Amino acid sequence: MRILSGIQPSGRLHIGNYFGMMRPALDLQERGQAFLFIADYHAMTTITAADELRRASLDVALDFLACGLDPQRTVFYRQSDVPEVHELAWLLSTVTPVGLLERCHAYKDKLARGASASHALFAYPVLMAADILAVRADIVPVGQDQKQHLEVARDIAVKFNQRHGEVFHLPDPLIQEHVSVVPGLDGQKMSKSYNNTIEIFGAQKATRKTVMRIVTNSQGVEESKDPEKCNVFALYRLFADEARTQEMARRYRAGGLGYGEVKQALFELLWQHFEPYRRRREELAADPRRVETVLAEGAARAREEITRTLRDARRAVGVS
Ligand code: ADP
Ligand code: TRP
Repeated sequence: MRILSGIQPSGRLHIGNYFGMMRPALDLQERGQAFLFIADYHAMTTITAADELRRASLDVALDFLACGLDPQRTVFYRQSDVPEVHELAWLLSTVTPVGLLERCHAYKDKLARGASASHALFAYPVLMAADILAVRADIVPVGQDQKQHLEVARDIAVKFNQRHGEVFHLPDPLIQEHVSVVPGLDGQKMSKSYNNTIEIFGAQKATRKTVMRIVTNSQGVEESKDPEKCNVFALYRLFADEARTQEMARRYRAGGLGYGEVKQALFELLWQHFEPYRRRREELAADPRRVETVLAEGAARAREEITRTLRDARRAVGVS
């Protein structure tokens, strides 16, 4: 089974990204041949400064490698290192109805929020279809928000195959519905656009300060509290094992537990959880050439596969 996913490099990852996207993607390494790429060309629809794009791409690479991506097993590459994907995107665009793209929610939402309508933003789903069809992925794990883009990719594959013969394999989405939403400091979904995040690799002092800012109700230490209604507890249980979680829930209900103490316990667990990853990240960050080598090797492996698909597609349309 071949699995493909892409991540846009867009700033420092937070623990919502970690539990919602990164961990499930890393777990999939065990289930088949995984391809994972850094969608830097897609990110250009939002990031416009060259330095920022370079930095953000390196940051995501470091984050994934530090947290356990095994480049021997997973083909890990940067989208922009495989230009063949764009040639394929052009071939696919010739069978893509404008109406199909006009109906995409992501595009309509961005316009509604005041983004200017660039051609890239409009054609985003075609490039995404090329990413997927190029490696002949069987399954594509994505968040709920990307489901429509997957349907577009399938539609495009069907249209191409109808017009030019069977070239593309139809991918199935794997929607991460079971992954619950990680709450941010204020109890809304943790998101960089809400400024309520806890970074995975923040500095120690800053991370402790951030944890101390988590919003709670104003119940006093002595009062009995409901753990299920507390943001601090919701975050605590992500890091604690079952026994610790049960014990903490019992102490909430018993009374005599202050929020300051739970926050301190959460901070300690969180800090410990990322400790080995943090060390590995520091080692990798000190040697960016090693990271470049990993990405270059990944790109070479991805290119072999993608070149084969492109050759078939070119032949099918009559340009080989
Ligand atoms: P943000 O909301 O911070 O901009 P993105 O939209 O870039 O994050 O999300 C990147 C990935 O992380 C997506 O797969 C998304 O589903 C996941 N993700 C982001 N925030 C959370 C959260 N609070 N809980 C669970 N998953 C999340
Ligand atoms: N659009 C995806 C997102 O914003 C990123 C992405 C680009 C992607 N190409 C992909 C995801 C191909 C899966 C497969 O999260």
